[in-house]
Amino acid sequence: MTRTVYVNGDYLPEDEAKISIFDRGFLMADAVYEVTSVLDGKLIDFEGHAVRLKRSLDELDMAEPCSKDELLEIHRKLVELNEIDEGLVYLQVTRGSDGDRDFVFPSAETPPSIVLFTQNKPGLADSPAAQKGAKVISIEDIRWGRRDIKTVQLLYPSMGKMMAKKAGADDAWMVEDGFVTEGTSNNAYFVKGNKIVTRPLSNDILHGITRAAVLRLADELQFEIEERKFTIDEAKQADEAFTTSASAFVMPVIEIDGAQLGDGTPGPVAKRLREIYLEESRKTAI
Ligand code: PDD
Repeated sequence: MTRTVYVNGDYLPEDEAKISIFDRGFLMADAVYEVTSVLDGKLIDFEGHAVRLKRSLDELDMAEPCSKDELLEIHRKLVELNEIDEGLVYLQVTRGSDGDRDFVFPSAETPPSIVLFTQNKPGLADSPAAQKGAKVISIEDIRWGRRDIKTVQLLYPSMGKMMAKKAGADDAWMVEDGFVTEGTSNNAYFVKGNKIVTRPLSNDILHGITRAAVLRLADELQFEIEERKFTIDEAKQADEAFTTSASAFVMPVIEIDGAQLGDGTPGPVAKRLREIYLEESRKTAI
């Protein structure tokens, strides 16, 4: 089945979709994005992703390409047309193009570009990777200072994943001034006793939509939540660790920089939070 994608108002087969070579998303990474997961053919946390998209656009003075209702309709139509039961919807909005390359932003009348496509991922909820748990390495965080804006500047996170792969691990946690910021494409946590520790929200990290939901659920389950900076050494001494993201939900971490956590299998807290998050998400999906 050929994938149907959405580009600037049109639903098209993926090989007919076109964006200008002068588009600022292509030339300057002048673009923001969102990734929304799909379970049972329905969108998880759509509202949260739509609100964060608006915030990213506002922070960069970028125009909204369409209303939230239209955005929802596009998401739903792509899920339907591509028969997605479990998977992801990727959305990108760029500052568009006025037909040339210039560091100065194009005039306010230049329309933004909007692109959406689906990724079919059967077995996303029941993923073997989550059953096994992830090994992470630590790397220096050399990204720009506005990581709260979900821009498409993903070269360094992508390099981080490659460094992890080369080291025989699955992912990397980034460290700045001695403290963990976040994973290459997820928020990072460790668990000690009844306490869950994660870095507080600021411009240093992405304000994860899954993070918000998981912390709310953890609070309801009577875990103590400590939002503070933490080091890799602290995380290595923890009972367990995990990450959260729309694409992997709650992912247990079983090893940090070669140090095994617990017995080297996913910990009970991460497993429980994953289960509950999936259960609640399915109930509230739209
Ligand atoms: N990444 N931190 C970073 C740097 C991320 O890229 C992501 C998400 C998160 C988690 O945010 P959320 O829970 O809203 O997905 C944290 C997406 C999934 C991606 O780039 O594919």
